Amino acid sequence: MSAMGTWDLAHPIVANHFRGIIEPIFFGNAPTVLQQNQMRGKPRPYLLSAIDLLKRIQGKTIVEVGCMRQPMAHGMDQFNPACCNDGHSTIFWGHSGLDVHSVDINPGAVKIAAAECAKYPNVKVTCADGIEFLKAFGGTIDLLYLDAWDVTKGTPYAEKHMEAFEVAREKLSPSSIVLIDDTDVQFGGKGRMVVPAVIRAGYDLLLHGRQTMLMRL
Ligand SMILES: C[S@@+](CC[C@H](N)C(=O)[O-])C[C@H]1O[C@@H](n2cnc3c(N)ncnc32)[C@H](O)[C@@H]1O
Repeated sequence: MSAMGTWDLAHPIVANHFRGIIEPIFFGNAPTVLQQNQMRGKPRPYLLSAIDLLKRIQGKTIVEVGCMRQPMAHGMDQFNPACCNDGHSTIFWGHSGLDVHSVDINPGAVKIAAAECAKYPNVKVTCADGIEFLKAFGGTIDLLYLDAWDVTKGTPYAEKHMEAFEVAREKLSPSSIVLIDDTDVQFGGKGRMVVPAVIRAGYDLLLHGRQTMLMRL
C-alpha cells in the first residue's frame, strides 16, 4: 500500500489517542526530573494507538524487548507522570488480549512483569537477552516493540536496537508495526539507527516523538 494509504488507515486512530497532546523533542539535552515528569511525552497514547492499529490490520502477536520494570500503582485509566514514565507497556499489551511475548535480561523486571500480568494468560514473559530471544523466536511477529538498552552515553544502545530489528526482520508479518521508545532524546535515542533501517525495510513512518511508530501494509 502507498504511504498515503497507510496514513489514511492510521490517521483516525492516532488522532483519537493524541487529541490534546503536545510534547517536546529534547535533541541532545537530557530532560530534568521536572521535564521528565511534567513535560516529556509519555508512552500511553503510542501504546494505545499501536494496539488499535494492530487490531485494525488483524495482527495477533506482540513481541516486546524490554518488559515493564515498575509495578503499576493505579488503574489502567489513571495516569501518574512520576510513575508512568517507563510506560507499563506489558500490562497494556496484556490487556489487548493478543498473544504477547515479552523478554527482559533482568530477572527483577521479569518477576515484576510476570506478577503484574498474572491475570493475562495471553502474556508470556521470558528472562533472556533480547537478541538471543529474537533469534530463537519461532513465530511470526505482528508488532515489534523495542524498549530495552537504556539511552546511556558511551553504550551501544542505538546499535543494539538496530541489531534487534535486523534479527527479527524475517519474522515480521508482511503487514506489521514496529514501535520504538525513547526516540525524543539524544538525537533519536533508541531509534537513531533502527528507525532509518525500518524505513529502508519498507515501513512508513506514522509517529515520531517520545516513541516512533512505523507500519507496513
Ligand atoms: C526502559 S525499560 C523497559 C520499560 C517497559 N517497556 C515499560 O514500558 O515499562 C528497559 C528494560 O530493558 C531491559 N534490557 C536491557 N538490556 C536488555 C537485553 N540485552 N535484553 C533484554 N532486555 C534488556 C532492562 O533490564 C529493562 O528492564
